[in-house]
Amino acid sequence: MRVAVIGAGPSGTAALRAFQSAAAKGAEVPEIVCFEKQDDWGGLWNYTWRTGLDEYGEPVHCSMYRYLWSNGPKEGLEFADYTFEEHFGKPIASYPPREVLRNYILGRIAKANVRNWCRFRHPVRWVGYDEGMGLFTVTAHDLKTDRVYEETFDRVIVASGHFSTPNAPYFEGLSTFNGRVLHAHDFRDALEFKDKDVLIVGTSYSAEDIGSQCWKYGCKSVTVSYRTAPMGYKWPDSWKEVPLLQKVENKTCTFQDGSTAEVDAIVLCTGYKHHFPFLPDDLRLRTANRLATADLYKGVVWLHNPKLFYLGMQDQWFTFNMFDAQAWWVRDAIMGRIGIPKDKNVLMADIEKRVAGEDAGESDYDAIRYQGDYVQELINETDYPSFDVDAACEAFYQWKKHKKENIMGFRDNGYKSAMTGTMAPKHHTPWVDCLDDSMKDYLRS
Ligand SMILES: Cc1cc2nc3c(=O)[nH]c(=O)nc-3n(C[C@H](O)[C@H](O)[C@H](O)COP(=O)(O)OP(=O)(O)OC[C@H]3O[C@@H](n4cnc5c(N)ncnc54)[C@H](O)[C@@H]3O)c2cc1C
Ligand SMILES: NC(=O)c1ccc[n+]([C@@H]2O[C@H](COP(=O)([O-])OP(=O)(O)OC[C@H]3O[C@@H](n4cnc5c(N)ncnc54)[C@H](OP(=O)(O)O)[C@@H]3O)[C@@H](O)[C@H]2O)c1
Repeated sequence: MRVAVIGAGPSGTAALRAFQSAAAKGAEVPEIVCFEKQDDWGGLWNYTWRTGLDEYGEPVHCSMYRYLWSNGPKEGLEFADYTFEEHFGKPIASYPPREVLRNYILGRIAKANVRNWCRFRHPVRWVGYDEGMGLFTVTAHDLKTDRVYEETFDRVIVASGHFSTPNAPYFEGLSTFNGRVLHAHDFRDALEFKDKDVLIVGTSYSAEDIGSQCWKYGCKSVTVSYRTAPMGYKWPDSWKEVPLLQKVENKTCTFQDGSTAEVDAIVLCTGYKHHFPFLPDDLRLRTANRLATADLYKGVVWLHNPKLFYLGMQDQWFTFNMFDAQAWWVRDAIMGRIGIPKDKNVLMADIEKRVAGEDAGESDYDAIRYQGDYVQELINETDYPSFDVDAACEAFYQWKKHKKENIMGFRDNGYKSAMTGTMAPKHHTPWVDCLDDSMKDYLRS
């Protein structure tokens, strides 16, 4: 049996590690080929200065920026089979910067010793399914030799991420704005906005964090424009939250309540699209960014062809350990250790139940619990090392509370590991004062 994995970010590498761990226990595993567009594994956690197209003319995958620190506690995302303490040799603080988290992700997969399963700089161009043969044909482009080729596979796992293709709405007058307009995907260095008045559109994580970065690195003011509701944190004096942007004239922005602001730059923090240009209609996931995705049995099996799997397509409270839970489950489904019901109605009923479960929740706390329960459900069905999901949920609840108390100070808190029970030490410098986000500086005692 041959299995194609598309993408070597945290989800794709979880799939590689899942198969490798079965092989290490003596199981006969399928041949795995992982196609990755970038020149290394790590997915979004690989930083590049590039925006737009890369050196091969491919859309740049990176949506991360300089000085990015984890926006949630690391205790919520820790791998159960490879703890932070194992990787760094000591307990570390709870909100690591990007480079530290990338190092951790790469450490786990390097230990698995499966790099030879990966074909880097190999974007997948197309996946077709032949009903008669029961096989997928994957068309990939070897960018280094500029060769396009096809190979057949029995199963395909899509792990190409969904926070890379911008959702960028148009607002009247944007095309005549006399300043810089960009989507969060192209934001790289907050110092670009030092001494500037910045308008942020959107109220979710990108809006909160990019606004905070600009403030921390010395912008003059932050105006956040909301569509549904303001974020409502206790912001610094130079912040304000205003209703949705209505129009732009020269440098003047007018909002729906008639108020105006003069700004130098507009950052659209308006989210991302699930985007699969390599999949035909009958294999392509179409879903909103939510916890219960459309058309995925158990959140991972494609309803319309259960030989196709998706990893990490949900909106995310839990990340790395949820991708692991999914990857272990998908591995076992592919290896025949877990049965996928043949009756499509059963698959659909599972999906509907998940959607109803999510819809019944009323708060962020309910959503965290809901996703925690999902992770628990999957790990109960495989040999992924069991861990204290309640403790991980507790770290998220504390995080929510700490954000409410102090939005510019929540990263100064520490939480207990759900894997080791160790309490994270406090970071040596408060986040607002810590302008050096290098791994070397973060790890110094
Ligand atoms: C700005 C930002 C900050 C974030 N911060 C955090 C955080 O602090 N903590 C946290 O837990 N999560 C964070 N996330 C969430 C993030 O989604 C996950 O941490 C994680 O990166 C998702 O892993 P993934 O493998 O599913 O997707 P990705 O990381 O997006 O990886 C997908 C991979 O697929 C490859 N690929 C795409 N298309 C193709 C193709 N056609 N052929 C071959 N390869 C392809 C890409 O090159 C990439 O390597 C953040 C997301 C963003 C956008
Ligand atoms: N430091 C970090 O770790 C960090 C930083 C940034 C992002 N992230 C991660 O990146 C992922 C994506 O977050 P995100 O904030 O980019 O996307 P998101 O959570 O999907 O939020 C999208 C936002 O855009 C708004 N929006 C969408 N269309 C709009 C429109 N037409 N007009 C006005 N507003 C519109 C939404 O408003 P409504 O509420 O009205 O729908 C929402 O506020 C998350 O997983 C997050 O954790 C992490």
